[in-house]
Parts: sequence; structure tokens; C-alpha cells
Amino acid sequence: MSDPTIIQELESIRQSGLDALAGLNSEEELQAWHAAHLSRTAPVMLVFQKLGKLTPEERPVVGQAANQVKVALETAFGERSAAVKEQALAQALASEKLDVTLPGRPVVHGRLHPDTQILRELYRVFGEMGFQVYRSREVETDEYNFQMLNFPVGHPARDMQDTYFIDAGERGDNPLVMRTHTSPGQVHAMQEASATNPQNPPPVRIILPGMCYRYEQTDARHETQFDQIEGLAVGPGITFTNLKGTLSDLARRLFGQHVRTRFRASYFPFTEPSAEFDVECFLCGGKGCAVCGGGWLEIGGCGMVHPNVLRNGGYDPERYSGFAFGLGPQRIAMLRYGINDIRYFWENDLRFLEQF
Ligand code: PHE
Repeated sequence: MSDPTIIQELESIRQSGLDALAGLNSEEELQAWHAAHLSRTAPVMLVFQKLGKLTPEERPVVGQAANQVKVALETAFGERSAAVKEQALAQALASEKLDVTLPGRPVVHGRLHPDTQILRELYRVFGEMGFQVYRSREVETDEYNFQMLNFPVGHPARDMQDTYFIDAGERGDNPLVMRTHTSPGQVHAMQEASATNPQNPPPVRIILPGMCYRYEQTDARHETQFDQIEGLAVGPGITFTNLKGTLSDLARRLFGQHVRTRFRASYFPFTEPSAEFDVECFLCGGKGCAVCGGGWLEIGGCGMVHPNVLRNGGYDPERYSGFAFGLGPQRIAMLRYGINDIRYFWENDLRFLEQF
């Protein structure tokens, strides 16, 4: 066997191998090709086996030529395999029904009602100021909702709080009512505290959050159902200055250092003196709008606890004084979030609720 013959044979092995590979399109065909052209019994491999019979001069030349053919076939096989795989993937994608360009389905997150959010914030802020949370019932007696708070039967100030009565007159002058404010909780809390030590009742510093009800004409600022947060601080030597400081500090903590606030003289039977507490209206920048009227939004009433109320709670007004306030958390939320109608809160309109 002469050198040129083997070299020609190798060349034809290479050529026929590459020709056979060119038309292949499936994994099975490729495997069969590999068995025929690159397995141990394939023609190019048989040439390696024959090397031993060649002359020492021919051996390196033929060996090198055979190796080049083997490498060429292996390289071509690798390239063809990759191309076949890619083709198969493209076909699978083309026949697929999945449209990967469609937008994903939005994940719906649950969220807290804006009222819950503002209440939690208020609990936190008052907590930092040292107020504890005290709760009392929504169904009250006339006695606690009014009489203990210095509104005797027939008192004209009762007209300020149109009341839902919930009995048919069986209880005489002490009917059951839906509480019109959280102030009855002041008396419950003081009575409970003073009962622990009637001679020297302990100081009280609490907030009383809860739902209140009034039979009212509704408008942008008034609802028949609303939250209040009552505050009460009773102890020796508490002054109106403490009240002003507490509410001003609250407004700064809620709305920022530069918020403008004002106290307007007012009247409540259970505080003396009494005031209303206003915050500058952010909705209109203090110019006056449908929500605030004159550029200020009242967020609550306040005053020094009336001696009769202290006495009803078991505290001697000669030794103790106190301040109280009643805030409207929804009014605060309106200012905070720019909500221009209080009636949105309980309408359960998701377009409103989803904004918070
Ligand atoms: N209870 C009063 C109201 O609902 C608010 C208030 C509370 C005023 C405490 C003074 C002190 O209108």
C-alpha cells in the first residue's frame, strides 16, 4: 500500500463523510451517521489500525493526515448537531400557543382601609407621648353619653349631637343610645381608675378610640357614622397649656414642623373653658374650599375637664384637674391624603380604597 493511495482514500473518507452529514436533520440520523463515520469500526479509524504496517517514513505522514480527517469529521458533526438542536427548538416555539409577549396577570395586594391606617398612626404617635388606649362600648346609656357629662335631661346642648335612640322609652330618662361621641368613655375610665384608690385616685393619660353615630344630614364633612379619638389626661396641676402643647405637638408630628394650627373658643358642657382645634387646610392651601370652608379644617374639640365631670369620675376637682379632646381621625386622613369628601370612607368603593 503506497502512501499516495492512503492519502487519496483518506480524502475520499473525509469527502463522503461530510457529504453524508450535510443533509441530516434529526437526532436519530445524526446518531446513525456518528456510528458510520466516527465509531471504532469507521473507515478513518481503520486507517489508524493500519499504521503499524507502514514504513517508519510513511507512518507520521499518514498518521497526521488521518488525524486531520478525524478532527474535520468531529468538528462538522458538532456543528451539525448544534444546528439541528436549534432548528428543533425554533419549530417547537413556532408551534407553541403561548404568547410570551402578553403582559403578566397583576398580583392583587390586600391593603388596610385608610381609616385603619390613620388610626394606627395615631395610636403610635399618642403611644410615644405616653397615652394608653382605653375602649368603651358603642351602645351607651343616656346617663353616660349625656348626664354624667353635664348635659342634664332637656339640656339644649344635646341638640349639637342628634342622637339615635335604640329603645322604645321603657327606660324613662335613661334610654339606650348609640354613642354620639367617645366622651362617655372619659367617665368610665375615671370611675374605673378612681375605684382602685378612692382616697388618692391615680393620674390618667389615655386615648379612647371608637365609632360614633349621629342622626345627621350628611355632606362632605359629616357622616352618620365616624370615628373619634378621645384624649383624657387627669392629674394634679394639669393646665390648658398642657392641652395646647399636646395638640400642637400632635399636629406637628402628623403634618410636619411648619403646620399652622389654631384654637378657637367654643362650648361643650363637659369642658370649661372649651375650644375647637383647627389645622390649616392642605386641600386648598388655606384659600378656602368645599371641604374646609374658610381655609381651616376643624379636627376636633377640646377643653379642661369640667369639675362636675371630674366629680362624676371620682376625682376631687379641688385637687385634680384635667384636659380632654375629641379628634376626628377621618378629618385628619382627609388632610393627610387630600380626600375631599368624608362619605368615601364607608362607601366601599374599591376605586377609592385601592388608592391607599
Ligand atoms: N365630644 C365632643 C364632640 O364630639 C368633642 C370633645 C371631646 C370636646 C373632648 C371637648 C373635649 O363634639
